[in-house]
Amino acid sequence: MNIQMVDMKKQYAQIQSKVEPKVLDVLSSGWYIGGPELKNFEKKSAEYIGVKHSIGCANGTDALQISMMAAGVKAGDEVITTPFTFIATAETIKMLGAIPVFVDVQKDTYNIDPELIEGAITSKTKAIIPVHLYGQAADMDRIMEIANKNNLVVIEDNAQGFGAKYKGKKLGSIGHMATVSFYPAKNLGACGDGGLILTNDDELETKLRMIANHGQNERYKHQVVGVNSRLDSIQAAILSIKLDYLDEWNSKRRANAAKYKKALQDIALMPYEDKDCYHIYHQFSIQVEKRDELQQFLFDNKIPNAIHYPIPLHLQVAFKDNNYPIGSFPISEKIAENIISLPMHPDLKDEEINFITDKIKEFFQ
Ligand SMILES: Cc1ncc(COP(=O)(O)O)c(C=O)c1O
Repeated sequence: MNIQMVDMKKQYAQIQSKVEPKVLDVLSSGWYIGGPELKNFEKKSAEYIGVKHSIGCANGTDALQISMMAAGVKAGDEVITTPFTFIATAETIKMLGAIPVFVDVQKDTYNIDPELIEGAITSKTKAIIPVHLYGQAADMDRIMEIANKNNLVVIEDNAQGFGAKYKGKKLGSIGHMATVSFYPAKNLGACGDGGLILTNDDELETKLRMIANHGQNERYKHQVVGVNSRLDSIQAAILSIKLDYLDEWNSKRRANAAKYKKALQDIALMPYEDKDCYHIYHQFSIQVEKRDELQQFLFDNKIPNAIHYPIPLHLQVAFKDNNYPIGSFPISEKIAENIISLPMHPDLKDEEINFITDKIKEFFQ
């Protein structure tokens, strides 16, 4: 058995007959940046999510930085987010000279706890970045209510939940802006890097496009200092093909999650699925005692796995000057000690899931 954490080769085999002629077409078209493929994917992804504007960029990290720049986040401003996420969420806050203000997560969804947000708001707070961790929505109604009351911008970090829903709405359509990553291992992944920013706001769209394009509103007329961040035409063309498969892939992830849950619910803490959420299980992450020992046992049995994430951001050396001692966010710290992600992709076979779950049962016998 050759179990993969994410099986990109198998996924590629499914779409190869469509992708290869398309990539050759783009190559012979001579249009490698911008152009019809990018336009088409921006339109198609905006329609899929249900927003007015979709703006391609180079990756999910740039998408966060550009969105904050469009929101006017500057040095000294505070941005509220979760410490239990990938570093890009908070790294970009710091890159702009702003201050990441962490708020602990809910113990069941692992997403930012809206009830703790108001206590973290100060006169310097500019924005809130909820992360839809592992492909499940943060509590967007409460977050938007708090943001609107306090005049704050909400940027959804939807790097992990393309196609996931909250109360029937696709993630990425609820905040003032939303960011997406198409890193290849994402549930909608490019064959390289890629990112997207989503918004319903016309003014923000103009700013976002300008910032992503060196601050130009016309060629060589630079209104602000921007960045250079583009989704190239080949990636846009590939993503456009893959988007047609995404709902099917997401529902296969959900079916695999159900199989894992059925087999493991008595021996580990399963991912919680909120009734308002359509979770797409970008990761299938469980909490267990003796996590590190289990991880080694899985590796010994050739079962890939990963820890998302072993050190909450407030305890990372990169954020030491933000002065959050151990114990500042006990829920995030506890999850980081016990969490482990199992192989998850649409093409996992029943026999692979059975092998993985039998081995986990054997470990805990
Ligand atoms: C929550 C989160 N935010 C942001 C990013 C950054 O995306 P990218 O790797 O495309 O820059 C990632 C990707 O790993 C992520 O998981």
